[in-house]
Amino acid sequence: MCGIVGILGARPAAPLILEALGRLEYRGYDSAGIATLHEGDIERRRAEGKLGNLTAVLARRPLPGTTGIGHTRWATHGAPTEGNAHPHGTSRVSVVHNGIIENHAALRAELEAEGQEFQTETDTESVAQLLDLYLKRGMAPEDAAGQALRRLEGAYALALIFAGYPDLMIGARHGAPLAVGFGEDEMFLGSDALALAPLTRQIAYLEDGDWAVITRDGARFMNRAGQTVDRAIRETRLTGAAIGRGAYRHFMEKELHEHPVVIGDVLSRMIDPATRSVVLPDFPFDLAAIPRVTISACGSAYYAGLVGRVWLESLARMPTDGDVASEFRYRAPPLPAGGLGLLVSQSGETADTMAALRYMQDEGQHVLSIVNVPESSMARESDAVLETLAGPEIGVASTKAFTAQLTVLACFALAAGRARGTLDAAREAALTQALMEVPGHAAEVLEGAAAEAIGRIAERIAEARDVLYLGRGSCFPIALEGALKLKEISYIHAEGYAAGEMKHGPIALIDRHVPVVAIAPSGPLFEKTASNLQEAAARGGQVIVFSDAAGAAKLQGIAAATVVLPACDPFVAPILYAVAVQMLAYRVALLKGTDVDQPRNLAKSVTVE
Ligand code: G6P
Repeated sequence: MCGIVGILGARPAAPLILEALGRLEYRGYDSAGIATLHEGDIERRRAEGKLGNLTAVLARRPLPGTTGIGHTRWATHGAPTEGNAHPHGTSRVSVVHNGIIENHAALRAELEAEGQEFQTETDTESVAQLLDLYLKRGMAPEDAAGQALRRLEGAYALALIFAGYPDLMIGARHGAPLAVGFGEDEMFLGSDALALAPLTRQIAYLEDGDWAVITRDGARFMNRAGQTVDRAIRETRLTGAAIGRGAYRHFMEKELHEHPVVIGDVLSRMIDPATRSVVLPDFPFDLAAIPRVTISACGSAYYAGLVGRVWLESLARMPTDGDVASEFRYRAPPLPAGGLGLLVSQSGETADTMAALRYMQDEGQHVLSIVNVPESSMARESDAVLETLAGPEIGVASTKAFTAQLTVLACFALAAGRARGTLDAAREAALTQALMEVPGHAAEVLEGAAAEAIGRIAERIAEARDVLYLGRGSCFPIALEGALKLKEISYIHAEGYAAGEMKHGPIALIDRHVPVVAIAPSGPLFEKTASNLQEAAARGGQVIVFSDAAGAAKLQGIAAATVVLPACDPFVAPILYAVAVQMLAYRVALLKGTDVDQPRNLAKSVTVE
């Protein structure tokens, strides 16, 4: 979603801002712009579409100045046109904004009555016009900002610069993240540390409600009440070097090939190979005493949570519930005192998941988050954190972060089972052994005969208009993930369904044009899924089976095509089969020629609700 970069520099700002915006491209956006101060005046360049367009504009009309702000916009209010692209402002002030100003219509009406002339359809312009009015009335920039911020409702991260003030930048955060970077005689603002990584590794995060007045000498932080507060400067672990595509065609392809390493990294942090037992950090709560677990997340992270639910119920016999965060937060379910709220998120910034976290805290839950970005808001506000250690994930559609989430959840469920006495040491050893085999198996899926079979099946799927994915038990969420991934990156309509539920609706869709992708590893539920596949085949559906050799042999008579995956313990099958369905989506997207890493309309870090 939208990205922010601000620089109070010693060098020309626009090229540095452009480069930093490039590091935020992965978040998904549809227009971009930069404003700088040149001889005290605000100048800006903006362009619809990808950063290449802005680069071309800047090549024709460079932007001088060492003070500037830049933005990649993911449209919410107003189409993704140049006119609606940020920065917004007047001759006095320039504004970039992430989030949504919910009272923008009321502000616009009030400001228009005061004679302010709006140029765009955006909610953001109400902030710029409000500031402009205060500045016109003679307020100093800092006072105007302080007063304007008190009027804003909704969610925002803001960066502001002011005409005539080349040594001033103001940042504010309410619901959308913002970081201040400290350099040598230079200062930076960024919507995440990744934007700032090559510029500085010294980062301070604004807390919710904070705003910062920044000069080249440093930053002063104020909280919501206007009191000056200290915000710790941390050394970010991110480096500018970490992110490149290497020899791969897409970040997604590279990230798919990182599955084995990422899963292996999680396991080596969480499993003691000598005792074949799970070793987790101490939690500030007792797993044995948790009355109920409530899982909340969005998108793929939610599906990881659904697999986690099956594991927690079966291995640790913990009552567990799960809901997408956007529903959970407004459903506002009663939660038992001392329960565990479990959030799953790659970015750690997803607005709805953050709101779910806060609701859980209000309901007296211990909050544990499973996140990939250790410096994220979610990590900072939780009682305990389990990191997924997947490294930066750049492709908008989650891949390696998803299998890392699953691996962490699997280890957590084992630890919970041990703590609650539902899992003995021998069983734990067998299951950790099964987990330790996953990286090798995942590598086989990516490189071996399975990969070739997936390539052939992709040709069939690329022809389809609709695709049905079926699974049961812990592989039902993998059917959901397979369908989501296909939709996201190939734009083919797909649905994930519980195999047993197919006859209650989706069976009506089945004819010879509809591929039915079955996630069907050998295990206790295999025969049940097999019966559902018979029903699909009987109606002419093209049944495409993902199974192991034993399962594939049993389904030979009805399968139109088969991907044979390495045999594994049913416990770990969701992790391995996730690799395979993500790979299938990628191969289909390649055939369709879509923008794999930045699919249309999607954003990586969804900071609006
Ligand atoms: C977006 C991404 C998905 C991701 C979801 C949740 O929709 O495109 O891949 O699963 O957000 O994001 P999170 O950062 O909370 O895992």
